[in-house]
Formats: sequence, C-alpha cells, structure tokens
Amino acid sequence: MTDTLDAAAYTDTAIARDERRLIFANNWALFGPEHELASPGDYVAQSVNGWPIVVLRDRDGALRAFHNVCRHRAAALFDEGAGACKAKITCPYHGWSYELDGRLALAPRFGEKLDPEEMGLLALRVEVWRGCIFVCVDPDTPDLLTWLGSVPAFCAPYPETPAFTYRGAFTVEGKANWKTYCDNTVEGYHLPFVHERLSQAVEGASVEIRGHDDHRLVCFHVGYRGDGAELRGDSGLWFYRYPGFQAVIGPTGFKAERIEPVGAGALRSKSWAWYGDDLGEQETADAFAWAEAIVHEDLGICEAVQRNLEAGAYNTGKLSPAMEEHTAAFQALVRQDLAQS
Ligand code: FES
Ligand SMILES: [Fe+2]
Repeated sequence: MTDTLDAAAYTDTAIARDERRLIFANNWALFGPEHELASPGDYVAQSVNGWPIVVLRDRDGALRAFHNVCRHRAAALFDEGAGACKAKITCPYHGWSYELDGRLALAPRFGEKLDPEEMGLLALRVEVWRGCIFVCVDPDTPDLLTWLGSVPAFCAPYPETPAFTYRGAFTVEGKANWKTYCDNTVEGYHLPFVHERLSQAVEGASVEIRGHDDHRLVCFHVGYRGDGAELRGDSGLWFYRYPGFQAVIGPTGFKAERIEPVGAGALRSKSWAWYGDDLGEQETADAFAWAEAIVHEDLGICEAVQRNLEAGAYNTGKLSPAMEEHTAAFQALVRQDLAQS
C-alpha cells in the first residue's frame, strides 16, 4: 500500500514551477496535426505547458518551432491561432522582423548593427510522428522516436493517420492540477462510477492495464462487449505517455490528447481526432462528442478532488495495490523527477 502525494503537491505554486522545469521541459509535448501546416509560411501559435510557441513551415519545407517571443523586448510575435506568414515575421511592437528560419532580418532605426544569428528567434526542437507535431524545449532530451519508446510498436497494427479523415479538435479547461487528472487517467478503478456509458460498453473483467518503459507508458488493453459496435470510434488501444500525452488508436480512428498544467490549480486538455471514412457521419459525430464528454466526466471529478486538496482537511490517502498500481507508479515518477532539483 502506497501513500498518495501530499496535498501540497497539487496546490503549491513553487512545485508547479519546478514541474515545468524538471518534467515538462524535458519531455516532448504534442503540439497538433501536421496537416495544418501544409504550405510554406503556414503557422500555428499556441501556449504549450506555459510556453507561448509558434510552429511554422519554412520556405525549404522544413518545420520550425520557436518561442513566440521577440528578442527585443519580449512582445508576442503571433496572436494565438493559425495563419500564413508573409515573407518575414514582423513584431507588432517596434517592427523588428525575422526570417522564417528565425534569423533577425531587420531592427528598424535601432542605431547599431545586431548579429542576425545571435539575436535570432529562440528555437525549440520539432518532430513529427503519425501526422502529429511534437515539440521539446530541452536540447538534451532523446529524439522523439526514442522518447516514444514502445508506443510505435503498439500502434503498428493500426492504420497510419492519413488513412483516416481529420474530424477536428476540442479543448477542455478545468480547475484541477494536471496530476489530479493523470492520477485518474492511469487507473480503471473509477470507470463504473464516473463513466456510465463507457463502463456499460466495456467488459469490466477484460480491461487490462500494463506499464511499460519504466512505467512512463501505461496501456489499457480493453475488451468490448459483443463486437464492440458501441465503441467503434474509440476501440483499440488507449495509452498514456508521461507526462502529458494520451491517445486512443484503433482500426477506425486515432485521437491524440495533450494534458498540460496551467499553474498549480488548473489544467488544459486539448484533443485532436481522426476517424475512418467507413464509420459514417452519424457514428463519427457520436464518437467525437462522446470523446469530449469523457474528458468532461473526468475533469468534473478531478475538480471536486482539487477543491478538497486545497481546502486543507485532507493531506494524504492510500493507493490500492490491486486497483491503483499505475497511479502509484505515476506519482513515483513525479517524485523522482522533482528530486533532481
Ligand atoms: S518587442 Fe519586438 S520589436 Fe520591440
Ligand atoms: Fe476516466
């Protein structure tokens, strides 16, 4: 039997700051679908784990990722959202401009010559897997494929993303620490209580949860009642890759989710979904709406937990060795990563 993390781990802003530095900077983060950046100049700007980031398609066809911050006095170069750059990236504050590869092009009326490389945009790493862009802040983290570990092998039986049609994205924000949500993500204990429709469709006895890659990967191998028709858009393998990447992949679709902290007491979950054409319009719409409903169900219970973690009566609880082995392993990873400071 293991004690849960202390309540302070879910409420303390200093711990949340350490987690960005010691956990989120060192891991790859799902950014979004690559097809949104089809042509040179196309860009998407959004905040990821607290870093405003832009990913764009350079003229040579390469993807580039930069911190969305001007090197002059830190203005945001892009509003959040998608668009197409003109020939250069121009800062809306004093008009500095940058090439699409990040080099400083012009600092108008500055009065002194600046080195274009030295004063270029701050780059991040960017790679693509199964039609999804990932970014990483830390230069020393292993490449994306190494970081994904066993994930590609588990996904190999299922169609590649271009075989599916992109359905869209949804974002859910909630007042809960990101760990409240991930504690919940890696256990099936709550399924019959929190997800009525999901637990009706799933054979309780055949949900097998396994940890891989030093428990940084948790896979749910789910058996469905009958032919699984209830869940066609969501059937297959569910997996969680520490700290903030979750996905469902199967013969009829692929859904990828980024879970990220927004300070100590809030999180954002953003999901992108693709479905096979054979699923039909109605089934696709239903699967998409249901996927969002599941996130809301999880977040609802997590917000109630968070309120109590903040209230002060509860400090630690106990994790079931039978039902919450993977939550215990997740919390051990957090403890281990935070101990690096
Ligand atoms: S902050 Fe960008 S030009 Fe001044
Ligand atoms: Fe859940």
